[in-house]
Amino acid sequence: RKKVTIAHLQALRASRTPITMLTAYDYPTGRACEAHGIDITLVGDSLAQVCLGYDSTTRLTLDELLHHTRAVARGSRAPLLVADMPFGTYLASPEDALRSAVRVVREGGADAVKMEGGMELVETVRKLTGVGIPVMAHVGLQPQRHVALSGYRAQGRDAESALHVLRSALALEEAGAFAAVVEAVPHALGTYISRRLTRMVTIGIGAGAGTDGQVLVWDDMLGTWHGHQAKFVRRFAQVDREVERGVRAYADAVRERSFPALEESYEMPKGQWEKFER
Ligand code: KIV
Ligand code: NA
Repeated sequence: RKKVTIAHLQALRASRTPITMLTAYDYPTGRACEAHGIDITLVGDSLAQVCLGYDSTTRLTLDELLHHTRAVARGSRAPLLVADMPFGTYLASPEDALRSAVRVVREGGADAVKMEGGMELVETVRKLTGVGIPVMAHVGLQPQRHVALSGYRAQGRDAESALHVLRSALALEEAGAFAAVVEAVPHALGTYISRRLTRMVTIGIGAGAGTDGQVLVWDDMLGTWHGHQAKFVRRFAQVDREVERGVRAYADAVRERSFPALEESYEMPKGQWEKFER
């Protein structure tokens, strides 16, 4: 596969061809994105919950993110590789954000970084894009703020809030972000923002079908395990059922000694056992 570039994503947007993005957290999931034609692989900080068992993305450290980004990068080569900036690694100042982003690119192997926020990130986005680090913004529902927002709730559902999301997107485009995740907003707003922007590519999650692309979390999409299911999640597979079937079948076979069978074991050449016993 040919490497997916920002120019390629812009061409998809221009031709109204929906862009596919999926999260990945390790080498095998990275390889699956590579092998099955995904345009953008995202090492999301959802890593914290779905892969590391934390109760919030705000617990994820930069070192943990880097460790997983390196693994994904080894498996996912053609898709554009974007990694989330963990909570607290880009908020103190544009310089602080730049130091963190350089590590994500140099040590992690990411092509671009993603950051949650609006107007308050304009200087930071300018700084990073100014030195050649592509930035994907993330507006609408920002999970790193779930406590301040009193939960994972849809944003932009009243006129004032919708205007806030739109203004954030416009400001981040102006600052140089090449793309933005638009999370959990009314579909009319997702479509409107996507039309109002001139170059920035929108990737929706719970933002309706009118954005330039879609993203889902790997584990939500495949049903690898069933936690809370947000309104915008569709399960395209039930991997947890296969896992349960396989684990139970293995344990049963071990307990009843039907595994391993003779043909799953090694033999000694003729005569060697007799020699050994003597
Ligand atoms: O962390 C994540 O997985 C994300 C996507 C859902 C956009 O930010
Ligand atoms: Na995220």
